Amino acid sequence: MAPVPRGGVVAVTGSAGFVGGWVVRRLLQRGYRVRACVRNTADLTRVGFLKAMPGYASRRLTLHAADLDQPGSFDAAFAGADAVAHISHVSGYADQDHILRVSQDLIDSIERSGSVRRVVVTSSVAAIISEMDLQELVRRPVFDEDRYPDESNPKRTPERGQGYSMGKLAIERVFSQAAARSGRWDAIVCCPGDNVGPIQSAHQKDMGPWQSLINQMLLGECRQNGVYRPWMTVDVRDDADAHIGLLESPRVANGERYIAWSTETRPVETICADIDRLLPELGHLTPPVTDDFPPRIRERETEMRAIWAGCQLRNDRIRAVTGMSFRPLDESLRDCVESLLAIAGTRPVLRPGFSLPD
Ligand SMILES: NC(=O)c1ccc[n+]([C@@H]2O[C@H](COP(=O)([O-])OP(=O)(O)OC[C@H]3O[C@@H](n4cnc5c(N)ncnc54)[C@H](OP(=O)(O)O)[C@@H]3O)[C@@H](O)[C@H]2O)c1
Repeated sequence: MAPVPRGGVVAVTGSAGFVGGWVVRRLLQRGYRVRACVRNTADLTRVGFLKAMPGYASRRLTLHAADLDQPGSFDAAFAGADAVAHISHVSGYADQDHILRVSQDLIDSIERSGSVRRVVVTSSVAAIISEMDLQELVRRPVFDEDRYPDESNPKRTPERGQGYSMGKLAIERVFSQAAARSGRWDAIVCCPGDNVGPIQSAHQKDMGPWQSLINQMLLGECRQNGVYRPWMTVDVRDDADAHIGLLESPRVANGERYIAWSTETRPVETICADIDRLLPELGHLTPPVTDDFPPRIRERETEMRAIWAGCQLRNDRIRAVTGMSFRPLDESLRDCVESLLAIAGTRPVLRPGFSLPD
C-alpha cells in the first residue's frame, strides 16, 4: 500500500490527548493537513491548545467533533482523508464486546471514506508484556514485536485487571483483519511504552498516567507502582514521530506491529529523585516513596525486581523502518517537569530556602 503523500490529509483521533496532541503538532510541522478529532470542540480547556497551534488560523488544522460511542460520527472527519492516526482511548476497557463494536464502527467510517489508505492504530506495550503470571517473563524475557502475553492463562480477565491489554490486542486484530479484507487500506500498529515528556495543555496533567505520577511527585507524593516494574519509557514527542514514521514508511505492511520506546528503564524511586538531580535550581523536596502493595506482593519485591531486571527491551524494528532515534529519559523528565510548572501551574513542594519565581 502506498504511504501517505507528503502534505496529505491525516485525521487524528484523540487529538486533545497527551499523545494525540503531539501527533497533531508534529504532523503540522511536517506539512500535513490535519483533522483533529475530539469529543467536544467547544471545550476550550481541552482544545484551546489545538486552536492556538499555527495552522489553525489558516484552516490547515481543523477540529471535528466525534465520539467513538456514536456510530458514524467520524464519517465527516475521514471523508477524503489520506490516512488516520487512531490514537484515542475507548470509553473503557472492561467490556471487550464494546471495544470490538466501537472499533468496527470506526472501521466502517474508514471504509465509507473511500480515500483512506493507511491507518496507524495505537496499541500499547501492555499488549506485549502484560502477564498474569510473572514467571512468563522469565520464560520469555525478550520484549519485541513477536511477543504476546500468555493468552491461554485462565486468570487473564478484565476483572483481574487485564482488560486494557486484552482490549488493545483485540483492537490490533480487528483492524488488521478488516484492512486485509478490504485491500484498499492497511493497518499498522504502534505499541508505545510509558510516555513521558511535555504536556501541551493544563488538562493533560491528570492524564497519562506517567505525567500525572510526576505531577504527584512534585506535589510531595511518590507511590510504588506496577508490581515494582521500572518505567519503560518513550518521550511523547518521539512517540508522535513514531506514529508519523509509520504513516509515511513504505517498508511496513498490514498487520505489523512496532514498539515505540527508547529501551531505557528506570525505577519510580529513581525518577522521583531525578527531578532534583536534573533541575537543582528548583529545590524540589524529594518525597519518600510509599508502598501501598498488600503484604503478599511486598514480600516478593526482591524477586519481582529481579524478574524485571532480566527483561530485554528491543526497538530495532521501528528504528529500521522509520530511521528515527529516541531521546534519553533525562530530557523527557526535565521537559515534563518544566511543562507541569509552566503550563499546568503546579506548585511543587520545595526545600527550605527555595521559592518559585514571581
Ligand atoms: N500515555 C501512555 O503512556 C501510553 C502508553 C501506551 C499506549 N498509550 C495509548 O496511546 C493512546 C493515547 O494515550 P494518551 O496518554 O494520549 O491518552 P489521553 O491523554 O487520556 O487521551 C486520550 C484521548 O482519548 C479520547 N477518548 C476517550 N474516549 C473516547 C471516545 N469514546 N471517543 C472518542 N475519543 C475518546 C479523549 O478525547 P477527548 O479529550 O476529546 O474527550 C482523550 O483526549 C491511547 O490509546 C493509549 O492506550 C498511551
